[in-house]
Amino acid sequence: MALLRASFFAAVVALALATPTDRSAPALVVHEHRGQPAKGFVNLGAAPADTELTLRLLLKPNNIEGLTQELLAVSDPSSSRYGQHLSLEQASVVSYVKPTTDAVSAVNAWLSSNEISATPVSPAGDLLEFTVPVSKASSLFDADFSVFGLSGTNTTNIRTLKYSLPSDLTSYVQFVHPMTSFSTPFSKPKISALSAKSGKRDVSDIDPSCADITTPSCVLNEYNIPTTLPPKQSNNVLGVSGFDNEFANFLDLQEFLTDYSDVSPSTSFSVQLLDGKQPQTHAISSADVLSGGSNTQLRSFAGVEASLDIDYTVSIVGEAVQVEFISVGPLNDDNLSGFLDEINFLINSTSRPTVLTTSYGFDEEDVTFPVYEGLCNAYMQLGALGTSLLFASGDGGVAGNDFECTTFVPTGPSSCPWVTSVGSSQAVLENFTKNNFTTIGAFFSSGGFSNYFPAPAYQQAAVSAYVKSLGDEYAGLYNTTGRGFPDVSAEGINFVVVAANTSELVEGTSCSSPVFASVVALLNAELLAANKPVLGFLNPFLYSPAGQAALTDVIGGTNPGCNTNGFNATAGWDPVTGLGTPDYTKLKAALGLS
Ligand SMILES: *[C@@H]1O[C@H](CO)[C@@H](O)[C@H](O)[C@H]1NC(C)=O
Ligand SMILES: *[C@@H]1O[C@H](CO)[C@@H](O)[C@H](O)[C@H]1NC(C)=O
Ligand SMILES: *[C@@H]1O[C@H](CO)[C@@H](O)[C@H](O)[C@H]1NC(C)=O
Ligand SMILES: *[C@@H]1O[C@H](CO)[C@@H](O)[C@H](O)[C@H]1NC(C)=O
Ligand SMILES: *[C@@H]1O[C@H](CO)[C@@H](O)[C@H](O)[C@H]1NC(C)=O
Ligand SMILES: *[C@@H]1O[C@H](CO)[C@@H](O)[C@H](O)[C@H]1NC(C)=O
Ligand SMILES: *[C@@H]1O[C@H](CO)[C@@H](O)[C@H](O)[C@H]1NC(C)=O
Ligand SMILES: *[C@@H]1O[C@H](CO)[C@@H](O)[C@H](O)[C@H]1NC(C)=O
Repeated sequence: MALLRASFFAAVVALALATPTDRSAPALVVHEHRGQPAKGFVNLGAAPADTELTLRLLLKPNNIEGLTQELLAVSDPSSSRYGQHLSLEQASVVSYVKPTTDAVSAVNAWLSSNEISATPVSPAGDLLEFTVPVSKASSLFDADFSVFGLSGTNTTNIRTLKYSLPSDLTSYVQFVHPMTSFSTPFSKPKISALSAKSGKRDVSDIDPSCADITTPSCVLNEYNIPTTLPPKQSNNVLGVSGFDNEFANFLDLQEFLTDYSDVSPSTSFSVQLLDGKQPQTHAISSADVLSGGSNTQLRSFAGVEASLDIDYTVSIVGEAVQVEFISVGPLNDDNLSGFLDEINFLINSTSRPTVLTTSYGFDEEDVTFPVYEGLCNAYMQLGALGTSLLFASGDGGVAGNDFECTTFVPTGPSSCPWVTSVGSSQAVLENFTKNNFTTIGAFFSSGGFSNYFPAPAYQQAAVSAYVKSLGDEYAGLYNTTGRGFPDVSAEGINFVVVAANTSELVEGTSCSSPVFASVVALLNAELLAANKPVLGFLNPFLYSPAGQAALTDVIGGTNPGCNTNGFNATAGWDPVTGLGTPDYTKLKAALGLS
């Protein structure tokens, strides 16, 4: 019956093409629309009709509710199935995500009747890719494509403010992208003021707390991370996401380890490349910089973000965990597609990381709900497979990346309920006394409440207690029922890094996510050594009484923005520092490891 119906419509559409006035073709109905382009973008005029667009069409999952229940069953410590992560091999994740046969045949029939052949680009076959010129996409989707330029940059996006689908397909399609979601440049870690003092720093002069300059040893000290580590487990990989032509340099890492860490300078990282525009078959030259999906070793091209992420993962996990730099190139010319590609690549990988840290993000409002929900569902799949996903929460306080905001701006992917969002804290010396510090929230630490996703059950008590404490404060500026973030935090100020053969000091939540992810990767190493499963999706554990007790609550500090003082870091969960910073000894105990 399903197939019959699909081919019936295929025939009708073919006829409609032959005689455009045919009235029996399903009507086009608006699928997504937005009133104006994302902030900062201006319409520069109609997109050239012959520009080729590579579009992704995501079919709706057949049972995402079922997968949500599975994810929670394997990640909630009170569940009898805690730790029994799903597998891809037995197709258990795919079975929830796979679109229905009705959906597949109806959409394929429609595409082929328009002489479009789409390629599935995800393990569940739910993401289809095809390339069409602007002229064809305009008529197919009743869309009006323009070139939108981002003020002050050379970034352009070809987008439409609305698009339609045949009425018989709307219930099958999650999104077509890129159409109405904008791809804004990622925020980058800030080089902090002290960086003017470039050159190697004298470590003996640095306070052992992280109150002065942050080094690996002060992070180990602050979070009780031991220097004696479990042996490396072959199946325990800590993934570090690389985007934006940010390359991690082997010699910079060696220099960093020599100058600032007790880890052997010969400790290195592996590299995984995807979405490169061309295979790297030749020696890399400066002409290759924008080919992406590479990890060029020309030293001057090392990125500060990539260096920071690699320096602090490798120096914290040492030889106990394999760190892998995953460099996502610009094949699909769109940062959101890169996010999706990375996850689909990892879902399908046999050497999937147990932990993935990503210090790139976007403002929720720049991405439409269907697109963001599709991405968030992909994170759910990876979580169900046993990977802990950590994301930096953003560096603009309650403003996100919108400096002209009138209401608070939640950031993604942090506001997706199926990832762990990491904000920043800051150690402050008490009365200038050496190694005597308190920890407060860092002023830039983004946090708040999603306008797209409601607070999931695992955090409802913690988040609603905070919302209640606010009373009428900021009423209308934030969403009282939204998913609250960040979930946790870690030091984020004055990290010394070596990038392109230069020591620099950087700050931002980009510092914090690699630190927290390294703690999780080490805990996984201990769990595996004890023949226990890895942690997987962290949040139900973190918000459980045992998890909360193993974190150090951060009290004090605010995250100003949008002409307000922002939120306060208070006792318990708050939207500046989440539940707090890690305490390795307590986390180990909470996981039943001695
Ligand atoms: C998944 O991996 C298999 C085997 O490595 C490969 O044949 C297949 O093309 C991959 N699928 C996707 C969607 O990448
Ligand atoms: C934009 O491109 C022009 C020409 O390539 C270049 O001179 C200019 O510096 C670029 N502007 C920015 C903000 O990158
Ligand atoms: C993606 O982000 C990078 C880094 O911020 C930016 O340079 C690039 O223009 C963005 N791409 C698009 C298509 O917006
Ligand atoms: C710092 O020193 C001042 C004056 O000596 C004292 O009043 C204050 O209590 C000290 N603060 C802390 C946190 O010890
Ligand atoms: C550290 O500061 C606290 C006050 O915050 C004070 O009570 C304590 O004596 C100080 N410890 C040292 C070692 O200075
Ligand atoms: C608040 O969040 C909920 C989802 O939790 C959403 O349905 C609602 O539209 C949001 N309100 C606003 C004003 O964005
Ligand atoms: C790195 O910098 C040092 C001085 O700071 C210099 O002596 C050395 O030649 C540089 N190495 C490279 C590969 O540029
Ligand atoms: C933050 O704390 C200050 C001082 O206690 C208080 O005046 C302010 O109302 C609080 N703000 C919020 C948003 O809770």
